[in-house]
Order: sequence, then C-alpha cells, then structure tokens
Amino acid sequence: MVFPIKRKQMMENLEVRDYEPGDLEGVLVLVSELEAEMSEKFDGVSIKSGGPEYRNRYLKPGNKFKTFVALLDGRVVGYLLGWPVLGAPEVDNMYDVLPASDHWKPAEFYFHITFVSKPFRNRGISKKLHLSALKYAREQGYKEVYACIAKWNEKELSVIRSLGFQEKDLGYRLRFSLKL
Ligand SMILES: CC(C)(COP(=O)(O)OP(=O)(O)OC[C@H]1O[C@@H](n2cnc3c(N)ncnc32)[C@H](O)[C@@H]1OP(=O)(O)O)[C@@H](O)C(=O)NCCC(=O)NCCS
Repeated sequence: MVFPIKRKQMMENLEVRDYEPGDLEGVLVLVSELEAEMSEKFDGVSIKSGGPEYRNRYLKPGNKFKTFVALLDGRVVGYLLGWPVLGAPEVDNMYDVLPASDHWKPAEFYFHITFVSKPFRNRGISKKLHLSALKYAREQGYKEVYACIAKWNEKELSVIRSLGFQEKDLGYRLRFSLKL
C-alpha cells in the first residue's frame, strides 16, 4: 500500500542516478505497473510481459542500454531507458551494437521509455530523469538526443517540450530531437 507523501518532503528525498544492478527488482516492479497500465489503456490487446527481456537484455550490465532511476527513500519510483543508435532502426532495434574503440561512438542517443509510478506523478520526476539522461549524453559526447512519442501521451509530450526539443509530426507520433 502506498501512503500519501507530502510533495515537498517527497522532492527533498528524491534521488536520480544511473541504474545499478541492485535496482533490478525495483525496476521490474515498475515494468509490471507499466504493463498493467498499458493493458488497461489498449482495450482488447494482450501484452506479453517484457520482464524477462528487461532482466536478460535491457538491464544486463555490459549491454548497450543505459538506464536512469529515480528513488524515494531507496525505493525505485521511476526510470528512463535509452541507448546509443547508429541511425538504422532495424539494426538499432534488433542488435546490441557497442563501440569497439574508445575513439568512435554513434552521434545519436535515443530516449526509449520513461515510466513513473502513478502515486508519484506530476512532481517533476520524469523531468529530472530526462535532465540526468541529457547530462549523461552531453558528457559522453553524443551530438543529438531523440525520442518518438505518441500523440496520446500528453504528459510525456509536455515533459519533452519543456526541455526545448524540436518536434516533427510523423502522423500518429511526434519525433523530438535536441542538438547537444
Ligand atoms: C509520462 C510520465 C513518465 C510523466 O511522469 P511525471 O513524473 O508525472 O512527469 P513530470 O512530473 O516531470 O511532468 C508532468 C507534469 O507535472 C508538472 N510538474 C512538474 N513538476 C511539478 C511540481 N513540482 N509541481 C507541480 N507540477 C509539476 C509538469 O509541468 C507536467 O505538467 P503538464 O503536463 O501540465 O505540463 C508518466 O505519466 C508515466 O509514467 N506515464 C505512463 C507511461 C508512459 O506513458 N510513458 C511514456 C512512454 S515512453
């Protein structure tokens, strides 16, 4: 059960940092919440759980994926997951391509998914996760960050717009990019 937490106290206790292996189970709880929410939203679809994929691929140390977590009193309440991209979607989606030398890295970093547990929304947690990810992308030397967001996802649209991304209408979704 989640007890109401006063907003000010909540934000004082908030920590946003890089994902660590000890956060695994906490993130997986949120993945279950996300999947339950998506099942409610998309009536008539059955969502196969991505839990095993998170465990064995996205959150596995050494793979290309990079995750940021938001914690309140040690509990994971939000995450943002992204990865470096080559710009060829079929390769970027199917393969874990890692730089093979210190002298080369892809130009773009992609923000794939952000989720904040429902009781903790509208307090700027997603925005803080995005800011941490942008700081990381800048420090790592990426030239551009991008994200694709569905038009129905008003909250996420509002967060990304507040960060100064340029947007392009792709029909049912929008593509956002920010030069670093
Ligand atoms: C989209 C999502 C990640 C946003 O998370 P969030 O932590 O609630 O986002 P933020 O709090 O940073 O911003 C949301 C709103 O809170 C407002 N806000 C931010 N800080 C605030 C504060 N201290 N006090 C009051 N409001 C605040 C923001 O201005 C924004 O308001 P707006 O929509 O009116 O512009 C969350 O709703 C979610 O997980 N949704 C389901 C999953 C999903 O759709 N993920 C995206 C797919 S990639």
